[in-house]
Amino acid sequence: MADDRLLKWRGEFPILSRCNYLISNSLGAMPRGVYANLQRYADTWAEQGVSAWGSGWFELPQTVGDRIAPLMGAAPGSVLAHQNASIANSILFGALDFSDTSRDKVVITELDFPSDVYALRSWLPDHMRVHTIPSRDGISIDIEEFLDAIDESTRLVSTSHVLFRSAFIMPAREITAKARRVGAQVVFNGYHSVGVIPVDVGAWDVDYYIGGTLKWLCGGPGGVFMYVRPDLLPSLNPKVTGWFASRAPFAFDVEKLDLRQDAYRLMNGTPGIASLHAIQPGVGIIAEIGVPAIREKSMRQTALIIALADEMGYEVVSPRDVERRAGTVTVNPPQAYEVSCELLAREIKVDFRPKAGIRIAPHFYNSDAEIRAALLAIGEILADGSWRRHQLS
Ligand SMILES: Cc1ncc(COP(=O)(O)O)c(C=O)c1O
Repeated sequence: MADDRLLKWRGEFPILSRCNYLISNSLGAMPRGVYANLQRYADTWAEQGVSAWGSGWFELPQTVGDRIAPLMGAAPGSVLAHQNASIANSILFGALDFSDTSRDKVVITELDFPSDVYALRSWLPDHMRVHTIPSRDGISIDIEEFLDAIDESTRLVSTSHVLFRSAFIMPAREITAKARRVGAQVVFNGYHSVGVIPVDVGAWDVDYYIGGTLKWLCGGPGGVFMYVRPDLLPSLNPKVTGWFASRAPFAFDVEKLDLRQDAYRLMNGTPGIASLHAIQPGVGIIAEIGVPAIREKSMRQTALIIALADEMGYEVVSPRDVERRAGTVTVNPPQAYEVSCELLAREIKVDFRPKAGIRIAPHFYNSDAEIRAALLAIGEILADGSWRRHQLS
């Protein structure tokens, strides 16, 4: 059974031996290989000093991007590591051309990650308008309504491939196809998709795709990745930029920035070399297991959470259709916030989101027994009243 095969990886993740770690939607567990990689980084810096730049540090954003690329169907060289999605968004939005006033619409959804929308709005010229597709149930977006909103007046569609509150999977291929038909472009947030559901930016002809490594890729904070369809690169003129985007960074020419034609066109300054070392063991493990096996197990375990929540009578704020559901199930029992605090006190790691509930996110390293224990604990906490200890006065 897939479950048994994947549980052999548990030993690679130290935290799993001391708590019930069901929070990979927030921060994936740290692979023990990170110790060695950070040690290698420290040794290189300590022993080589400035010469360490010659040991591959300059190329590291690309090296890491190339390791992530196969997990999302991207060609080598088309993915570059950046520091966080908010910065990557600003780099991208600032580089887009919004000068065609006949294309004044940007389509988003009410359930997108707010930071994406903050960055988007900050870069839009005054003539642009944001068209927000509402969610009627707090879980999903009406796909027909969303696709209909993408029309000839649309410049950009900016949404998440997987919605962070509910784990609803947006149909990336259809969205991209519709945008292409009407001459619009699409940027996806892939924070909750790469590493847990199949993603194929190449086959789907996606324009832009920005995701993070710290959740489902077990890569730790400080690393995101940005895919840009290679033929679009020359059309991008970044405002958030710097010497790493230059063809001749060591010419130190103050008058002219001659932008590179490859993914480094969207780089800016010195990358966080330590984080780029920490990212790699997690990405390596995901690649070795393969996303199809992870997805298969995830579908089964998220269904198990829903079945248990149904049995116990708790509201489920995630899609019931397995094809539309990614790796997280949000369960909304009574007193969900207080219950989530008590779960944490009992070393059952989950998180709580307002207007949603308790997010439970098993990854390939979790057992069915851990899922059952978490749901059982919710019942106990409500029954024994221990949730009251966390009531806000
Ligand atoms: C959907 C989504 N996007 C982005 C982020 C984080 O953004 P940033 O990398 O700018 O911190 C998160 C973090 O929880 C997220 O859930």
